[in-house]
Amino acid sequence: MDRFTLSPAHFDSLLKRYGITPGKNPSAQWERASSAQRWSLAKAIVKKTLAWMAGRHPKNGQQQILKAYDGQWKKKAFSRYLPQVDQGGAPWQWGDLKWVMSNEAGAAVRLLFLEEALNQLNPSSVLEVGAGNGINLLVLAARFPLIKFSGIEPTSGGVETAKLVIEDGELPDALVSFSPFPLSDVSAPARIRMEQGSAEHLPYADASVDVVMTSLALEQMEEIRHEALSEIARVAKDWVVMLEPFRDVNQSGQRRAYVRTYDYFQGSIAELARYGLKVEQVCLDMPHKSILGTALVLARRIR
Ligand SMILES: C[S@@+](CC[C@H](N)C(=O)[O-])C[C@H]1O[C@@H](n2cnc3c(N)ncnc32)[C@H](O)[C@@H]1O
Repeated sequence: MDRFTLSPAHFDSLLKRYGITPGKNPSAQWERASSAQRWSLAKAIVKKTLAWMAGRHPKNGQQQILKAYDGQWKKKAFSRYLPQVDQGGAPWQWGDLKWVMSNEAGAAVRLLFLEEALNQLNPSSVLEVGAGNGINLLVLAARFPLIKFSGIEPTSGGVETAKLVIEDGELPDALVSFSPFPLSDVSAPARIRMEQGSAEHLPYADASVDVVMTSLALEQMEEIRHEALSEIARVAKDWVVMLEPFRDVNQSGQRRAYVRTYDYFQGSIAELARYGLKVEQVCLDMPHKSILGTALVLARRIR
């Protein structure tokens, strides 16, 4: 089943806000960005190989990941999400279309898919695990004011940044402009419950949240993949929504090398069954960074 299809018209109008016109022939900018990415991956592979040959086995583990994200979220003011032309960024693709896009524009594209998932599931409560600076929660709360949203994020940088908006009580103008869909209540984000914690031990009772959601968060949890999936499945009452770089979409070439070199998530969609998660919908055909495929999975929690 592949019901998630992004309408080309909606997609084009979203990218126009960033001055982007995707093309079948890669632009010079796309070629340059791809080549820079290939080089940096090649250097990382050589570095890792030399370390192994010297008997060291460096891993991009939780400790390194959380340190990096803590700093990143502290630096990332929400004003950066205001759509701007010529922001540059990474090479992306969708089918045979190619373009260059910033991380912020990429977040807007992912939100379209998360919004569609919540539209279909119509939950009363949603928990985002690995919520970062809260960008998804803040915008989705303003879109769905009747849903009780909460978030767990291990870095203080992420939690504190999200709380700047939650405690302010209103979505800042930059995020209103950033939202890829119309919003219903810009003061609803004030009701988000955002806490510091890890997916390894979610501070929630069994089957206590209608939908547990992750967006590029399991991506960073390969070291604790089993614990995180067990906890997510324990807490989910009805559904789990995951927008992640599943192994299924990163099986070959550069993408496989990227996932392995940086120790990204390597879980497969099929293995979700082990956690009592019955996959009901999968979208494998979504816009993604050229170097990392992503899939959207909606799985029903079976007890
Ligand atoms: C790529 S960011 C995605 C953030 C957010 N979900 C989004 O879509 O913008 C990955 C996030 O996963 C978080 N993370 C890493 N390890 C985690 C863990 N053990 N438990 C919960 N979150 C974790 C990181 O701190 C970071 O905020």
